[in-house]
Amino acid sequence: MLEENVLDSIASAEQRASRDPHGMLDLVLKFPAQCREAANITWHYGVGASEAVEIRRIVVTGLGGSAIGGDFLRCLADEYGPIPVLVNRDYHLPHWVNRNTLVIAASYSGNTEETLQAIRDASRAEAQIAVVTSGGKLADIAKQASYAYALVPGGQPPRSATGYMFFPQLTYLAHRSLLRHQFEHDIEETLSILESLAKRLGPDVPTDQNPAKQLARALYGKIPVIYGSQGYRGVVAYRWKSQFNENTKIAAFSNVLPEQNHNEILAWVQAQKQAPNWAVIFLRDPNERFENPRIVRRVEVTTELIRRVAPVYEVLAEGESLLARLFSLVYIADFVSVYLAYLYGVCPTDISYIDYLKAELAKLG
Ligand code: F6R
Repeated sequence: MLEENVLDSIASAEQRASRDPHGMLDLVLKFPAQCREAANITWHYGVGASEAVEIRRIVVTGLGGSAIGGDFLRCLADEYGPIPVLVNRDYHLPHWVNRNTLVIAASYSGNTEETLQAIRDASRAEAQIAVVTSGGKLADIAKQASYAYALVPGGQPPRSATGYMFFPQLTYLAHRSLLRHQFEHDIEETLSILESLAKRLGPDVPTDQNPAKQLARALYGKIPVIYGSQGYRGVVAYRWKSQFNENTKIAAFSNVLPEQNHNEILAWVQAQKQAPNWAVIFLRDPNERFENPRIVRRVEVTTELIRRVAPVYEVLAEGESLLARLFSLVYIADFVSVYLAYLYGVCPTDISYIDYLKAELAKLG
């Protein structure tokens, strides 16, 4: 049963403490400041690989909350080139990785076994290597091998440290002249939109004026399916899904148009027979009507079909720059997923199943 006024009873930190003993929402509120700090983190440039060697592709290797920053980087590289970024979420790197590949190993803890294995592959392939971490074995490896590395502040759940894990990657690519764009203005715009969202979606804004609390309430008891209308919104839809999985401890699914229109759209024919309680969230962009009017029509028709069996909500990106639009959508998910965790009465920080799995694997040696 939904407790009616939970979301309006958590305005002060003391009142939140019972629902959120490890302070996930406080970390969410500090996210704009985290991003500001992260954009200024110092790189140690190392002497391991020659910066004279031409870089022809980039692989970001990491998992979960550390990998998603690589997805954001890929979206920017797709827009501002000149070379492709691939995100690797596995033990091994693709066999084409070689000395012309920049491999960025991203692990917040620095101890994720898949990432540690992948950096060994990178070293064997004589790739150029850069590391973003808060410490652990990855920091030791980077220092010993003289790889370029950025050491970010530690001590919080990786998924709440996306700013720390992403912005140093952006500044590193800027340092290596691997993006044909100046980001200073975009970063300032992003930070100011994040600060504004924190004010508008924060715990002291009551439900009737707070879209994040309203969406969390609407999603209570539902299985969220998050659709990106196109492009970077697909990556952000996956982030929303992961935040519902990790913060709220619920099943959630994501996809992106136009691909969804060629297969998953048919799932809505019988979806009600599988479960009666789906809810769809469309992540939209204010520019899509100029960039691709056909996408707008696709969203309209898809919405019309899904509304026959499930409610459909829309969340709109904010800002001019791609960076701001992407991060505005990312940030809204942090609030919605934590508020929904409060409604379910689960601790947003808890990741006991992940810890259990990692402990079982550790027994293998
Ligand atoms: C936990 C989280 C996870 C981790 C993942 C990899 O908050 O977000 O998805 O990010 O288990 O661990 P790290 O990021 O330490 O390499």
